[in-house]
Amino acid sequence: MFDVATIRKEFPLLEQQVYGKPLVYLDSGATAQKPEVVIRTLDTLYRTLNANIHRGVHYLSEMATERYEEARKEVARFIGARQAEEIIFTAGATASINLVAYAWGEKFLSAGDNIVVSEMEHHSNIVPWQLLAERRGAEIRVLPFDDEGRLMLERLPALLDSHTKMVAVTQASNTLGTRPDLQQLIAAAHAVGACVLVDGCQGVVHGGVDVVSLDCDFYAFSGHKLYGPTGIGVLYGKRALLEAMPPFMGGGDMVNRVSFERTTYADVPLRFEAGTANYIDAIALGEAIRFVQSLDSTEVEAHEQALLRYATDELQRIEGLRIYGTQADKCAILSFNVEGVHGYDMGMILDKLGVAVRTGQHCAEPVMAHYGVQGMCRASLAMYNTAAEIDALVGGVKRAVRMLR
Ligand code: ALA
Repeated sequence: MFDVATIRKEFPLLEQQVYGKPLVYLDSGATAQKPEVVIRTLDTLYRTLNANIHRGVHYLSEMATERYEEARKEVARFIGARQAEEIIFTAGATASINLVAYAWGEKFLSAGDNIVVSEMEHHSNIVPWQLLAERRGAEIRVLPFDDEGRLMLERLPALLDSHTKMVAVTQASNTLGTRPDLQQLIAAAHAVGACVLVDGCQGVVHGGVDVVSLDCDFYAFSGHKLYGPTGIGVLYGKRALLEAMPPFMGGGDMVNRVSFERTTYADVPLRFEAGTANYIDAIALGEAIRFVQSLDSTEVEAHEQALLRYATDELQRIEGLRIYGTQADKCAILSFNVEGVHGYDMGMILDKLGVAVRTGQHCAEPVMAHYGVQGMCRASLAMYNTAAEIDALVGGVKRAVRMLR
């Protein structure tokens, strides 16, 4: 059985107090805390295995290269990719999406084409497409969501046509928690010949993914939200698409031969990994994934969902409190506001009580605009949260309301 007390022992940071209060960390959607195995791996790698990969014949370089390529295989298995070559290590989901927007966009997008982006996207799955559309003279079309936070897939056919080349959508909204029906969306996009890029930042943590059965063309996520280090992320792409894309950044390791007459490029995935790779963090991400896989994902999801239901029920009892994103199928993310209380003040008071939530626009200004608000408070849960922590959140919100109203 899932035992949260045992899980918490793996996360040393959670033991601390802030302002003399036990830390209640409810900001895992922004970044998750790290288990001992990840911290230990980072320490061990720098103490014993640090040498640049793909470059030396000496022992350390060979060993580091082997571990890096093992991590690539681990990621591929974890997300159900057919081949490790379909996994590109990047600096994070933002870098992954920008890579596609440049390299894929360079090859496959022309003036007059369009890109469909959902209204609930994080800025990192909006702005790279806007920049691309500006460069190419393409159009951005927006797939809206309704007030419950449900992506309105019934509007999709009206947006798609033979000039739609990309549909960019989240697997789970970082603000609303909503999980759109991607299977339906991807089938509709493919029917008009469009590619689909899925932002898996929250989705890969809450429930995981199988990219082959999903049949997405690209899938992006960050390591640090998946209990891994910062500065490392993943881009999955179908091999044929990656192979058809020109390089994005030029430099060492992404080439076959370089001369002033003619330079040729490495095969995928190295073609897209210019410069010294972040091999230390990639290897540690592999360990984070092993840690996640050592747990029963159904039990983890059930635990998070139970906490989400409990928090939702308790918060809803507070007069004037509105939860954004009320669709039944959502991941453990809970955004809210209380009438007459500024979210920033709420966040400050919660902080002094030891409760860490995110306040503001959550890098999703179109979501704020949809509801006509300046910002929201967001509690985002992880496997290590407890019912007692939900009590601390709810108690803190009530106290803030009493103080601020
Ligand atoms: N994208 C991260 C979040 O949702 C930082 O908070």
